[in-house]
Amino acid sequence: MTKKILILSGSPKKNGNTAALVEWFMEGAGSRGAKIELIHAAFLQYKFPGCTSCRLCQKQKAYECVIEDDANLALRKMAAADVIVMATPLYFFAASAQLKVLIDRMFSLYKWDNAAGTMRTVLKGKTLLLLASAFEDAGMDALEKPFVLTADYSGMEYGSLLVSNAGESGDIRKRSDIHEKAVAFGKKFA
Ligand SMILES: Cc1cc2nc3c(=O)[nH]c(=O)nc-3n(C[C@H](O)[C@H](O)[C@H](O)COP(=O)(O)O)c2cc1C
Repeated sequence: MTKKILILSGSPKKNGNTAALVEWFMEGAGSRGAKIELIHAAFLQYKFPGCTSCRLCQKQKAYECVIEDDANLALRKMAAADVIVMATPLYFFAASAQLKVLIDRMFSLYKWDNAAGTMRTVLKGKTLLLLASAFEDAGMDALEKPFVLTADYSGMEYGSLLVSNAGESGDIRKRSDIHEKAVAFGKKFA
C-alpha cells in the first residue's frame, strides 16, 4: 500500500540544514513510491500563535481545531497521514518555536474523557519521525524527549535521525555520509 507521508518542517531557512535533511528523506521515501507532502510550518498563517486552551475541540466529534486557519489544514493532513515527519533545527536545546506552535494545536487530535480516565487519538497506529540538526554536540536528548513521549502516549511508532555538529545553515549539504543516512531513513519508513 502506498504510504502517505506528511512532513512538517519547522525551520525558517528554506535552503538550510533542516531543508537538506527533508530533501534527502524525500529522495529516499519518494524512491519507494510514497506519497509525500511538505508543509513549511514556519510560513503558516495563524489566527492565534499556539493553542488557546479553549477546549472546544473536546466538545465536538471531529478531530480538528475550532480555529479555522493554516494550522487546521495541517492538522487535517496529519489525521490522514500514515507517517508524520517533524523536522527542526535545535533552538536552545529544543524544537523551533515555529514547529512547537503547530504541535500545541495537536491538542485537537485527541479526545480525553477525564471522568472515565480514557484518551482516544487519530494519531494511534501512525508513525512519528523526527529529523533534526544542531550546530554543537549537546542537547539532542532534550530535543528528542517530548517526541518520544508523545509517540509513546499516542500509540505511534517512533524513529529519528538527529545530526549533531551539523554546522551553520547549509553546511550539512557537504556531508555525503548524512545524505546517505537520510535517504536510507526515508526508504525505511516509506
Ligand atoms: C535561534 C537559534 C538557536 C540555536 N540554538 C542552538 C542550540 O541550542 N544548540 C546548537 O547546537 N545549535 C543551535 N543553533 C544552531 C542550529 O541548530 C543549527 O545550525 C541548525 O543545523 C540550523 O538548521 P537550519 O539551517 O534548518 O536553520 C541555533 C540556531 C539559531 C538560529
